[in-house]
Amino acid sequence: MVIKNVNLEIVCGITSVLPTNIHPEVAFAGKSNVGKSSLINGLMNRKAYARTSSQPGKTQTINYYMINEDVYFVDLPGYGYATAAVSVKEKWGKMIEKYLQTSEMLKGVFLLLDIRHDPSTNDKNMYEWILHNGFKPIIIATKMDKLNRSQVAKHVKAIRTGLNAGSDTIIIPYSAVTKQGRDEIWATIESLIS
Ligand code: GTP
Ligand code: MG
Repeated sequence: MVIKNVNLEIVCGITSVLPTNIHPEVAFAGKSNVGKSSLINGLMNRKAYARTSSQPGKTQTINYYMINEDVYFVDLPGYGYATAAVSVKEKWGKMIEKYLQTSEMLKGVFLLLDIRHDPSTNDKNMYEWILHNGFKPIIIATKMDKLNRSQVAKHVKAIRTGLNAGSDTIIIPYSAVTKQGRDEIWATIESLIS
């Protein structure tokens, strides 16, 4: 995909009404700090258009990035952000639930997990929730540059086992540093929206 233009077009907070879009959407979910905004930058060929941070809890709104007037990338707030107040976490959980349940143009959901770690309870719940809403989650195993190449397959297997995901579930290792995995993710997006 040649990126002609990108635009942060819609930003939704906890009290916002979600937009009714006419363009297809793909969404990026996952624990806080896992690399959702970094992945979106990598896919858009932008260094820092989506704001990222080494501190978890950076993205606290649902951000819709319009790509080439073709597709929205939807950057979701991370879950499991430990220091957020319980009431805030609940509201965000509800907002993400509502997003997955009601977005009529949503074509696919990417679930990001850190390749180094086994899935957490939150990760497993999110995986099940995506399935429950009728989507086949596509797993992105982020931060693959933190592993030796020889360790990648073993960690991908551990993620598959931890999520109880079948062999038909796609798991794509990705690095925001080297951009390894980018083309495969774009190919997946194109197949989802075509
Ligand atoms: P929230 O907005 O808090 O939910 O986080 P996020 O999932 O959007 O994570 P973000 O993209 O802000 O990245 C969090 C931190 O991880 C930043 O310091 C990034 O530079 C770093 N990071 C993200 N992806 C990678 C990667 O593939 N490799 C390495 N080494 N660091 C990464
Ligand atoms: Mg973010």
